[in-house]
Amino acid sequence: MRSSWHVFWREFRRSFHTTGAVAPSSAALARALCHHLPEPPAEPAPAPSGTPRRVLEVGPGTGAVTRHILARLGPEDRLDLVEINPQFVQFLQRRFEQDTQFAPYRQQVHLHQGSVLEWNPPQRYDVVISGLPLNNFQPEQVQQFLDHFAHLAGEQGVVSFFQYVAVRRLRQHLGLSPGTRRRLRGITEVLDRCFGQYEFRRQLVLRNLPPAWVHHLRFREPAEE
Ligand SMILES: C[S@@+](CC[C@H](N)C(=O)[O-])C[C@H]1O[C@@H](n2cnc3c(N)ncnc32)[C@H](O)[C@@H]1O
Repeated sequence: MRSSWHVFWREFRRSFHTTGAVAPSSAALARALCHHLPEPPAEPAPAPSGTPRRVLEVGPGTGAVTRHILARLGPEDRLDLVEINPQFVQFLQRRFEQDTQFAPYRQQVHLHQGSVLEWNPPQRYDVVISGLPLNNFQPEQVQQFLDHFAHLAGEQGVVSFFQYVAVRRLRQHLGLSPGTRRRLRGITEVLDRCFGQYEFRRQLVLRNLPPAWVHHLRFREPAEE
């Protein structure tokens, strides 16, 4: 099996728009993304709600974050993976067959190829963890992703995702085309509005290349003034 770094680098060059990073996320970033998915108790016990947890990972790539999610799954929990790039899907399928850290969870994991925007299961998720490269999209698409995450998580679920520190703001001010600057400014506006309403926790992860902010959101209706 090729290394995840090799596959990631190849897909970065082939499909930059959807991959958006040169390398998989670090363990530190993965742990921060899993902050709201606590490890199950050593003794089997019912989840706080009395029901198994439902977890969604959007854009798992080669599985850098998936590995940390799996380590936190209780025996009854379920993980859905939605990945748009067939090469990553193939790589992950092989991991679930051959990798000793992945294979034991095969029965609890459902891997789907396609865009998350077309993913609409009947039940909501307790935790949604996204690796989407938001800086590569149009502001309207970023809004669409956020709206869809809100729908998938409902009012109780937590949505966690990251963005690289300062990268978009730097690019906004560097000598890029006016169209690109406008697009990046639009993304900043969409995200800032969303953070203002729904973000309840933010973590800085320095041990990642580049360093990243992890945002944790709950899409409850904002409180009345
Ligand atoms: C920055 S990479 C993150 C990969 C991995 N989560 C990590 O942290 O190493 C972005 C991932 O999102 C996937 N992706 C991009 N657009 C997507 C979409 N609309 N639906 C599902 N996955 C998507 C890419 O193929 C890629 O695997």
